[in-house]
Amino acid sequence: MQKTLSFIRSNQDRYLDELKQFLAIPSVSTNPENKPDIQRCASWVATQMQTIGLENINIMPTGGHPAVYGEWLKAPGKPTLLIYGHYDVQPVDPLNLWTSPPFEATIRNGNLFARGSADDKGQVHIHFKALEAWMKTMGSLPINVKMIIEGEEEIGSEHLEPFLKANKKLLKSDLVLISDTSMFARGVPSVCYGLRGLAYMQIDLMGPNRDLHSGSFGGSVHNPIQALTEIISQLHDDKGRITIPGFYDSVRKLSKKERDAYAKLPWSDKTYSKDLGVRELYGEKGFSTLERLWARPTLECNGIWGGFTGEGAKTVLPAKASAKISMRLVPDQKSGDIAKMFEKHIKKIAPKTVQVTVRNLHGGEAAITPIDHPGVQAAVSALEKGFGKKPLYQREGGSIPIVVQFKKILGLDTVLLGFGLPDENAHAPDEFLNLDNYFGGIRTAAHYYNELPGFLKRK
Ligand code: BES
Ligand code: ZN
Repeated sequence: MQKTLSFIRSNQDRYLDELKQFLAIPSVSTNPENKPDIQRCASWVATQMQTIGLENINIMPTGGHPAVYGEWLKAPGKPTLLIYGHYDVQPVDPLNLWTSPPFEATIRNGNLFARGSADDKGQVHIHFKALEAWMKTMGSLPINVKMIIEGEEEIGSEHLEPFLKANKKLLKSDLVLISDTSMFARGVPSVCYGLRGLAYMQIDLMGPNRDLHSGSFGGSVHNPIQALTEIISQLHDDKGRITIPGFYDSVRKLSKKERDAYAKLPWSDKTYSKDLGVRELYGEKGFSTLERLWARPTLECNGIWGGFTGEGAKTVLPAKASAKISMRLVPDQKSGDIAKMFEKHIKKIAPKTVQVTVRNLHGGEAAITPIDHPGVQAAVSALEKGFGKKPLYQREGGSIPIVVQFKKILGLDTVLLGFGLPDENAHAPDEFLNLDNYFGGIRTAAHYYNELPGFLKRK
């Protein structure tokens, strides 16, 4: 282990050069123009797997962007760890708000800025380098490893579910490990044991059959933008609760134990609101901020459009208005059921003056891993060794829809060992990965592979 750790220490500059190459590929999964870059990125991942000594490497087609597979299975009698991550990234707009170009990784103040640096290329690279360090110094790994790095996580992993079903044997393992979440705070390592689910919807409203002069027609027909905002404004009550009938019916209650544990975490609403530049926080009454973020469902309008939005003024009563609305879900809400409730409710409250269509764009279920799971306990031990500090337990508000599918299709629990930070600007301009977390992450991952067999044996 000492040899492996000193190898990690002496190769830091090379790691950064390599990671910069990975980050230079604009693998934006939602953008059809970036399809060649997605292919190039999948090849980069495959070459990397080859270089670090994985075997049976395969760029595997899915119904969409390819998933890259690699394995090393020469530790008989030892557990098999399935490491999942994603090489696709979110779009970079608005480009003018980036301090340095999003695909030219740049270091400032100990942070590496680039799209995908934290979410998730940097965290995937952490595992490449930890595996490589073992292979280069010991000639072997302390466990069996399978890796699946996909290209559609940021667009809902639609094709990965059938992929898991079709490749059950190939992916057979003892446990899944994902590094695609954040630590609690700078210098505060944590193990994440829960993620929220998601139901992502679009509402389209049609008013008159064409755009109208707002002077000649205003006062005679319902403006679809007005109708849409009237609908959206009814979706929360004055206590910040969502008004869709049945929405909370299957929400799992927070236990007293969890509430007490959250209350003890080093958190300040004041620091949080100051950092975000808001005078006051908002949310469901009766729950603390961490409870609302991690264990309560929410509904957000992600975008709204219609009518004239150009420079200057145009007097128009538009024919159409639309909105994208997503709901973050918690155990035991079902994404499909919630989508149906949403559609029914919107249709019920939509005024007769407009025609409404509701579409379900994508979704996924919330996930919880019990904290006494030996794989989680191995993560606690590895983080303590990698960062020199005992980690906290936390949940997160984001979603990784495939986690629940790993359980359903492959019967596997997932350990979430994340090295991002809550203020890393994921999905936004100036995304960054903190370099202490990156190198600490490589050390932690190297320890994790080593610790896992002992912990699983104690099961
Ligand atoms: N890395 C995130 C998931 C995440 C975000 C975990 C924040 C913990 C905290 C992942 O890449 C992501 O952004 N997922 C999407 C899923 C969606 C597209 C189905 C999300 O949460 O919006
Ligand atoms: Zn991610």
